[in-house]
Amino acid sequence: MKSGRRPLIAANWKMNGLKADGTALAGAVAERAKAAGTALAADILICPPATLIAPVGDVLAGSPVWLGGQDCSPETSGAFTGDIAAAMLRDLGCRAVITGHSERRAGHRETNGQVRAKTSAALAQGLVAIVCVGETAAERDAGQALDVVGARLLHSVPDEAKAASLVVAYEPVWAIGTGRVPTLAEIEAMHRHIRTLLADKLSDGADVRILYGGSVKASNAREILAIADVDGALVGGASLKADEFWGIVEVAPTR
Ligand code: 13P
Repeated sequence: MKSGRRPLIAANWKMNGLKADGTALAGAVAERAKAAGTALAADILICPPATLIAPVGDVLAGSPVWLGGQDCSPETSGAFTGDIAAAMLRDLGCRAVITGHSERRAGHRETNGQVRAKTSAALAQGLVAIVCVGETAAERDAGQALDVVGARLLHSVPDEAKAASLVVAYEPVWAIGTGRVPTLAEIEAMHRHIRTLLADKLSDGADVRILYGGSVKASNAREILAIADVDGALVGGASLKADEFWGIVEVAPTR
């Protein structure tokens, strides 16, 4: 069944890479994307660490691969040492930014309210916001996965969001960097739940892309990306190797 939602395969490099290896990796992905041309079934996004946004942006220029940030400030400018405004990302050619990744929610104590404010700041700058939500192992074991992810979603997505500039990433915390992946049925149930909530909250919620993230690699991507409401992947570790990342891009279904 055709959904009309073009898959998005997004690379989250996290805090990895120096200039030489980051630009080489981006260059390898850009070359493959250029070679694929119109046969490319997916949008491709690379979110390097902030220090590499400019040099990676130079490498991606003229290729179909999008550039993105991993976080942005809810503020527009001012005395916020170390933070990066959405306008600054936009200024470097970013088209997207990740907000509310679980590593920021856990490591930087980001709340749903802060994630919502960051997402609003990104949308106000015309960036696509990739809002991340997921449950911990304890929450899943307690049978609360659908409820907690649903609550996180509704409190993290601002009311003004539109499908053209909103992406949701379902990333179970216990599946990130662990090699563990939910069953296909669990992923399907969660994505269906997220879809229902988005359709309720937003007039065009049916068109929002919902990505799965957590130990996606070339060898498991095909079956995950084939699930009805899975519209792409947010890839961590496997995005640090061009061949492995491209192996995921290649199995994205045409929709
Ligand atoms: P891994 O692909 O390394 O599990 O990381 C997923 C993730 O957190 C992407 O944002």
